[in-house]
Amino acid sequence: MRRMSLAGQRRLFGFGLLGIAGFTIYWYLFSTGIPVIWGPSASASEMAAGRELFEHEWTANDPLAHGDGLGPVFNAKSCVACHFQGGVGGGGEVGHNATHFEVLPQPGRNEYITGVLHDFSVNSSEHESMATLKARYPVVKFPPPPPPPPGHCGYIAPPKPDIDPIRTLSVQTNAMFGIGWIDRISTRAILHNYRSRALSANISEMKMNFDTIPAGRVSLLADGRVGRFGWKANFATLEEFVAAACANELGLGTPTCAQADPLTQTSKHDVPPDLNRKQFASLVAFCDTLPRPVEIIPTTSAGEQLAKHGKTLFASTGCATCHVPDIGGVKGVYSDFLLYTLEDPQPNGGAYGPEPPIENARPSWVPRPDEWRTPPLWGVADSAPYLHDGSAPNLQQAILRHRHDGKAAGDRFAKMPATEQAALLAFLGTLKAPADAIPAAQSVNRKKRLAKNG
Ligand code: HEC
Ligand code: HEC
Repeated sequence: MRRMSLAGQRRLFGFGLLGIAGFTIYWYLFSTGIPVIWGPSASASEMAAGRELFEHEWTANDPLAHGDGLGPVFNAKSCVACHFQGGVGGGGEVGHNATHFEVLPQPGRNEYITGVLHDFSVNSSEHESMATLKARYPVVKFPPPPPPPPGHCGYIAPPKPDIDPIRTLSVQTNAMFGIGWIDRISTRAILHNYRSRALSANISEMKMNFDTIPAGRVSLLADGRVGRFGWKANFATLEEFVAAACANELGLGTPTCAQADPLTQTSKHDVPPDLNRKQFASLVAFCDTLPRPVEIIPTTSAGEQLAKHGKTLFASTGCATCHVPDIGGVKGVYSDFLLYTLEDPQPNGGAYGPEPPIENARPSWVPRPDEWRTPPLWGVADSAPYLHDGSAPNLQQAILRHRHDGKAAGDRFAKMPATEQAALLAFLGTLKAPADAIPAAQSVNRKKRLAKNG
């Protein structure tokens, strides 16, 4: 066998390096990542242990907890009290909405704070309300400008307006079915979809096509990771969301996240995590393996035709541009996990209040108050009411509320003949919660909360 010359070997090595570099660049720019092939799985015993924690009605100093149990502040006594529509792990009603707040940086306090305003507390002295929040982060007032010297006739600086650093948002409980699949979608798939969308939106704008649906925005977290969970896509992994839900909704500390402190800060709660590593892992495994929603084809042939027609309209109307049916190998999820604004700008910020002056603005990694993640539409037939705050009672209202970034699609829907609207709605009606979800038998809990809210 002839041996390769030194120059030949060098050349081969060079080509090899070039090949690797080329592949790396290709992978970085164009790859959609590794598609999800294997779905979530866990042992039966782990799922059962997790289910017990998800359904358990927690009490203060609960024997199941290693810390102080429920509280000191909380929104409900169990996960299932809010997540029950269509079965254990589903969405909830507006009565279970959580109030999130943010405190914007102010002169003298260069800190951005977010939190949850809790409905309940174990000790009445630690009860939270809008008044407690306002007392802790009061309106910043500026002294009036000094009076102009006598005879002054030039520019007089107007008094500085007061700054209310607090903004609140009400968000409703989202359904968690199939969430383990979403956790496994590669970040590359989300980024790749975003890049190709951005490119085609740019080309379309250059062609002066004003019907273009903009590409939205990737939710980049403070540490540079891509967010995908929650109405604001502000969590990157299911595990982190579950830890935050334990801390904020039930007041349960976990190995990775301390329980929420009461706003009143009247006493110190220095306790070990309520859930130990094993308990936390089984709770995550239970959420991770919740069955995924299903597309139920109507049994009559007329019903089937209508839903099929609706699915075609869903694509041709532009719905599928944001509610991407398949992404990263997960079929039928109907989301791109990007942030959009569906409301037209309103004078003085509308429901969200005026935007803060630039020097007090929120950090760049925090979505604006009017930015929301495209919600996955799988299971949507079983998760009324709709939109982040549950303000749309039915699917039709939710679609008609697509303005601004969603205007092109919303307008097309509004102008459709009634038969086509009915077809599109019939298609959405096929996107059901999984039939094998565990039935939620916690009506007692639910009635208690509804009594409190009504
Ligand atoms: C008081 C009602 C309430 C309770 C109790 C509650 N949640 Fe939630 N859950 C919500 C709300 C509201 C949201 C939406 C929050 C957001 O988007 O910021 C949510 C969202 C979630 C999500 C994210 C879903 C997604 O699609 O991105 C997960 C996961 C979750 N909850 C898990 C849990 C777990 C686990 C528990 C129990 C430890 C729990 N929740 C208890 C109200 C509740
Ligand atoms: C520009 C991207 C975009 C387009 C196009 C779009 N949507 Fe949406 N959709 C969103 C976002 C973002 C939300 C969440 C808004 C909120 O919660 O305030 C949403 C919410 C929804 C909801 C409520 C889901 C829930 O769980 O509450 C439905 C239903 C829906 N869209 C259906 C449609 C249909 C049907 C079309 C086509 C006519 C469409 N969307 C087009 C981005 C889009």
